[in-house]
Amino acid sequence: MNRATLPKSSLPSTDGESRPDDESPSIPLDFQFYPETEMSRRATDFFTMMNRRRTVRSFSQRPVQREVIEACLQAASTAPSGANMQPWHFVAVSDPTIKQSIRIAAEEEERAFYDHRAPEEWLNALKHLGTDSNKPFLETAPYLIAIFAQRYHLDDNGQHVKHYYVTESVGIATGLLITACHNAGLATLTHTPSPMGFLNEILHRPDFERPFLLLVVGYPTEDATVPDIKRKRLDDFATFL
Ligand SMILES: Cc1cc2nc3c(=O)[nH]c(=O)nc-3n(C[C@H](O)[C@H](O)[C@H](O)COP(=O)(O)O)c2cc1C
Repeated sequence: MNRATLPKSSLPSTDGESRPDDESPSIPLDFQFYPETEMSRRATDFFTMMNRRRTVRSFSQRPVQREVIEACLQAASTAPSGANMQPWHFVAVSDPTIKQSIRIAAEEEERAFYDHRAPEEWLNALKHLGTDSNKPFLETAPYLIAIFAQRYHLDDNGQHVKHYYVTESVGIATGLLITACHNAGLATLTHTPSPMGFLNEILHRPDFERPFLLLVVGYPTEDATVPDIKRKRLDDFATFL
């Protein structure tokens, strides 16, 4: 989001001094309370829905309505962020020529990764996924969403304004985007060719934006399969004290 479009009241103080009350107005909280049984059902239903999310690596060419992608991006933009800096930018690519350029550049990096750049340990960790440097889904999937993390923004006078907890904020926004896509009935793949500097070049993004992740979005092919992986059980990943 362009900082210039943010209402002044949503911008944190940058001078370290507190603002007079009239510059930091409050509004009533819009919070939904649920009866306990309904709360429990909603929590379980949501887990059941999310438990069906899988990373997909074979996408069909079936198109996706732009308005669905827009709503998912808006859901992502509700993420909390350090000092409300909203340090993200999303580029949703459906143009076949741009997708082809991204595929060519990504496959070049991936070839280097699989041929010599990746340590043996990393390649071993990836073995069960059956992945290689061939990424046809970068062209077949209807949307590639490139997510950029902004280290700072420029204020109206062209001065740098630092962003805080950028990685955490963009990670949360990305999680919400993946969740929103899954909830809408779309499959995703979190793709991280490394390095991803080519995304700045192809998508004309400024240097102060770091490519964070490339989210492939669309529908799985009819015969899509996924690795038979297991998720940790609650007792193995959570502690209640
Ligand atoms: C930060 C991150 C980077 C990833 N990068 C890739 C990638 O480049 N290629 C790929 O095929 N999968 C990638 N994945 C997907 C993981 O392999 C996948 O999430 C994991 O195997 C668990 O499978 P699931 O998503 O189906 O539960 C990535 C996932 C994350 C969170």
